[in-house]
Amino acid sequence: MEVGVTNLGRYLLEEQRKHPQATGDFTLIIEQIAFACKVISREVNKAGIVNILGKAKNVNVHGEEQQKLDVYSNRKMIQALDHIGKLCAMGSEEDEEIIRIPDHYPKGKYVVVFDPLDGSSNIDVNISIGTIFAVYRSISSCKEGVEEDFKQSGRNLVAAGYVLYGSSTMLVYTAGNGVNGFTLDPNIGEFLLSHENIKMPESGKIYSFNEANYNRWTPEIQNYVNCLRNMTERQYTGRYIGSLVADFHRNLLKGGVFGYPGDSKNPKGKLRLLYEAIPLAFIIEQAGGQATDGEQNILDIVPEELHQRTPLIIGSNYEVDLYKQYMKGEVKC
Ligand code: AHG
Ligand code: MN
Ligand code: MN
Repeated sequence: MEVGVTNLGRYLLEEQRKHPQATGDFTLIIEQIAFACKVISREVNKAGIVNILGKAKNVNVHGEEQQKLDVYSNRKMIQALDHIGKLCAMGSEEDEEIIRIPDHYPKGKYVVVFDPLDGSSNIDVNISIGTIFAVYRSISSCKEGVEEDFKQSGRNLVAAGYVLYGSSTMLVYTAGNGVNGFTLDPNIGEFLLSHENIKMPESGKIYSFNEANYNRWTPEIQNYVNCLRNMTERQYTGRYIGSLVADFHRNLLKGGVFGYPGDSKNPKGKLRLLYEAIPLAFIIEQAGGQATDGEQNILDIVPEELHQRTPLIIGSNYEVDLYKQYMKGEVKC
């Protein structure tokens, strides 16, 4: 489709027409997520002016200081989705429990999980942050318990995406038929197709690890990062923004690897499986890359708890395959 004049609505409609049995439910969910993210983008881009910076004086389920924009973004995502009658439930990084659909709204057959604002520590210093989301079909009866809806591996995903609030606001998503990027034109308030059929380079020259954790890594992980540092035939550069969405997006377009492995202090690492690792793993696999926890493909892991953490190594095939070889003790450099 023509880049620059195809808005998200048209793209979704064209995709929907490819599925005769489609009801339009999925289309509406993505459009509402896009709407919420436009509202979040507006607040992010004026955060320095209005009193929405800083801490919300409470902590989230992870004991992390909630930023006002975390709370605001969470509320916007919920408000955009709770009333449309297409969801059975939601799960959010910012809510300890599953978010039920209020009784006065109709329920639907989908479940949406999200990290409403990723990279919160970067909000007050004007560095790119993002929203991450994933869509599943409900497998519960959606009346009594819905916990089982959140215990589905990434192989069951209907769609996954993120919005990056950077130098421009960009929505990137996949519904299992390739990855496409839409850039927000703030003058008309539309996401316009700007990056059609994104493909991940087979290898890159960027590695993205928080090397402050180096001394807590296992020798295998230390050897891997040293290998990338010292590889003569390809000069790697280190880039680490501290916002997963921003680090991921740069590598998706340029190639390379992002890693947040487990360490002696946090054996499962820091990142959350359901609404950070799995959505990005689905996107990267659709773009030709891969994601592992060091032992298995992220998409094969079945979540047991809403907020469980996982080590995450995600990026180009060359760098992730090399990581897996190092995890098996096969020193390659
Ligand atoms: P969130 O703001 O949603 O809690 O996510 C922050 C995550 C992720 O965005 C980033 O990659 C990671 O925290 C950075 O962690 P460190 O500061 O420990 O490197
Ligand atoms: Mn996050
Ligand atoms: Mn977050």
